[in-house]
Amino acid sequence: METSNERVISTRLDTVTLITINRPESLNALDQLTLQQLDAAVSAIEADPHVKVAIITGAGNKAFVAGADISVMQPLDPIAARRMATTAQLLLNKIENGSTIFIAAINGYALGGGCELALACDIRIAADSAQLGQPEINLGIIPGWGGTQRLPRLVGSSRAKQLMLTGERISAGQAAQIGLVNEVVTAAELMPRAQKLAQTIAEKPKMALQLIKEAVTNGMEMDRNRAFAYEADLFGLCFATADQKEGMLAFLEKRRPDWRDC
Ligand code: CAA
Repeated sequence: METSNERVISTRLDTVTLITINRPESLNALDQLTLQQLDAAVSAIEADPHVKVAIITGAGNKAFVAGADISVMQPLDPIAARRMATTAQLLLNKIENGSTIFIAAINGYALGGGCELALACDIRIAADSAQLGQPEINLGIIPGWGGTQRLPRLVGSSRAKQLMLTGERISAGQAAQIGLVNEVVTAAELMPRAQKLAQTIAEKPKMALQLIKEAVTNGMEMDRNRAFAYEADLFGLCFATADQKEGMLAFLEKRRPDWRDC
């Protein structure tokens, strides 16, 4: 099933949905309409109980997303700029906190808001031709879509500051070295690899997938003692699912589990 909204194309294949940001003439830069359509695509996925994994990528072979649309931002006043940052942050938080597992398939430039979009995803796979960075400093601004917070949590504050203070772009290989992307593959291998990874994850029981995402995302914001207690609570919650009974019974009966996703 494919729904095309011009700027964002959603293609659902069973339990995996591919979201393509489709503005290649502007290197998939995110203007208001594209953000709205991305928000609608993410909301639709979250509302669909059958979807377990979503892959986000960019149209064309040059860019994942080259950032927020600079031509839209240039004339903004402080209030409008703050509103724009808040709106995009809410969307990226929806990705980070949603029940779906999001994979960023970084097929080219992931800059500014594009890097921040990738940071909000659960897993990042990059083509070897991709370049990543937070070049906002070169525009006289700071990252405003969560980059100052998610990047240091992922790669450490010193590396994050270097990227943001210099605005320099790094290669996919360098990004992998600092943990900014999980894997680097050739451009031709990018989508097959992202699909295979998505399929592997989509074959797992949905509730446990969600609870792992929740435990890691929320637990990292807590102190250790609270986080361990939270983990124990979510571990207990697994035992309310049919899939916990089935998964363990299947092991004991030496057969493959028949997941019910409940
Ligand atoms: N906003 C608006 N348009 C953009 C854009 C952006 N972020 N990035 C690229 N484009 C447009 C270009 O203006 C150009 O349009 P025209 O053909 O109409 O002139 C088209 O996309 C192709 O771009 P280039 O000709 O520049 O392509 P290139 O190969 O020479 O360079 C690039 C590629 C290095 C990515 C360069 O386009 C670039 O530096 N882009 C801006 C990257 C950037 O600064 N991103 C951060 C934005 S700020 C932000 O995102 C803030 C935040 O935290 C949310």
